[in-house]
Amino acid sequence: MEAKSGEKRRRGDASTSRGNDRGVPTGAKRDEIDRVRKSLPIYRAKDKLMEEIRRSETIIIIGETGSGKTTQIPQYVYNDITLTNGLMVGVTQPRRVAAVSVSQRVADETGTEHGKLVGYAIRFEDVSSEETRIKFLTDGMLLREAVADPFLKKYGVIMIDEAHERTLQTDFLLGTIKGVQRRRREERDRRGQTLPPLRIIVMSATLEASSFSKFFDGAPVVYSRGRTFPVEMYYTEEPEEDYLDAAMLTVLQVNAEEAPGDVLVFLTGQEEIESLGRMLRERAAKLPSDVPRLNVRLLFAALPPEEQMKVFETTPPGTRKVVLATNIAETSLTINGIRYVIDSGLSKMRIHHPRSGVDELAITPIAQSQAQQRAGRAGREAAGKCFRLYTEEVMPSLERYVKPELLRTNLSGVVLQLKVRSPKRLRTLSVLTLQTINSFNYFSTGDES
Ligand SMILES: Nc1ncnc2c1ncn2[C@@H]1O[C@H](COP(=O)(O)OP(=O)(O)OP(=O)(O)O)[C@@H](O)[C@H]1O
Ligand SMILES: [Mg+2]
Repeated sequence: MEAKSGEKRRRGDASTSRGNDRGVPTGAKRDEIDRVRKSLPIYRAKDKLMEEIRRSETIIIIGETGSGKTTQIPQYVYNDITLTNGLMVGVTQPRRVAAVSVSQRVADETGTEHGKLVGYAIRFEDVSSEETRIKFLTDGMLLREAVADPFLKKYGVIMIDEAHERTLQTDFLLGTIKGVQRRRREERDRRGQTLPPLRIIVMSATLEASSFSKFFDGAPVVYSRGRTFPVEMYYTEEPEEDYLDAAMLTVLQVNAEEAPGDVLVFLTGQEEIESLGRMLRERAAKLPSDVPRLNVRLLFAALPPEEQMKVFETTPPGTRKVVLATNIAETSLTINGIRYVIDSGLSKMRIHHPRSGVDELAITPIAQSQAQQRAGRAGREAAGKCFRLYTEEVMPSLERYVKPELLRTNLSGVVLQLKVRSPKRLRTLSVLTLQTINSFNYFSTGDES
């Protein structure tokens, strides 16, 4: 037995710069994590921020990309029993890859095994346990939990992160959570102190704050200023005719001329990501020996989850990682090593044509908020650069915020799905933005005018 524990200790010692055998960071990695945490803008604003959070049942927090909202605030909240009442802190993300990677980071920061104190739940995968107190989930998963338990009894605080994305799921979740909060309040008034209040924290870097505040009955909006690292912006002088070609040339130029650091390229979909991947691999084979080798990684929704997670791996010295991604990498993610972002300025968006009843996935210019989010991916671990493949003059002509999916999609499928899941509750669901729904006149918005 003694020999075994000795062996265990030796293994731990040998990996002081990485982690112990449960994957928990130790030694130098732990020190580095602590140093980063204390350097974040959110850390400096902590006391003031917590005061504001304690003051209101619902609050909207806006802070720069990379300032520490997603990784830090759930931990601060968890450490305040007056906020949680010993219940769970649930943090929602619009995308699976974000829920998984961010919860891994928070588990590392808390020095605990992933799935214990900090866990996640996405469709078909639940890495949480009885001990879990900070749980990251996709919007869709929390919606499901709310159907099973209309009071969300396990949760003391719900944080709706990246609320600016305005996906259908996020918007339905906002309405659902507002309903849960009200239901818990009414239950308390009726039966005395049974369930503590449900606190709601809405977070984003680029949010149309006033409409969110109005939706939550005048909830306060707190701005946390301060950048992590500067990101230098570059634009093309002339509009690009072929953005794929422009993206490839920019990758090669960054590789040849810029200091070490990985590259993240935003494109619109799987096909062109695969095609640029092929083009880059071909070119990479012919690169002169004095420039770094290219290590191309792809990231889009249809890729199997284990393939998606490969973008987070660090690449060997002397190589430069080039991640080709859709807007799946636009919010929430910190991809290690990224210093350069190349932004095509485009994304694929689902658009519904009510007359013909046809849904179309169209390539459309992104909104200013998306351009800001994309650039933000370059300045998370060090100063970075963002190369926009469009002219600076284009910027003011872009929409400020993404148009909510609720306003550009065919709702019939979603409405029917919700009706099947909870026939009664749908009638009292509040939504942030309303669309005229001619073919669904039984869809009432309840107490919302
Ligand atoms: N996996 C990671 N590896 C290294 N550093 C990380 C990692 N995750 C986060 N960080 C550091 O913590 C900072 C804060 O990250 P966090 O995700 O909390 O920011 P955020 O305010 O939520 O940003 P965003 O609005 O873009 O989602 C990052 O800028 C980075 O410095
Ligand atoms: Mg975040």
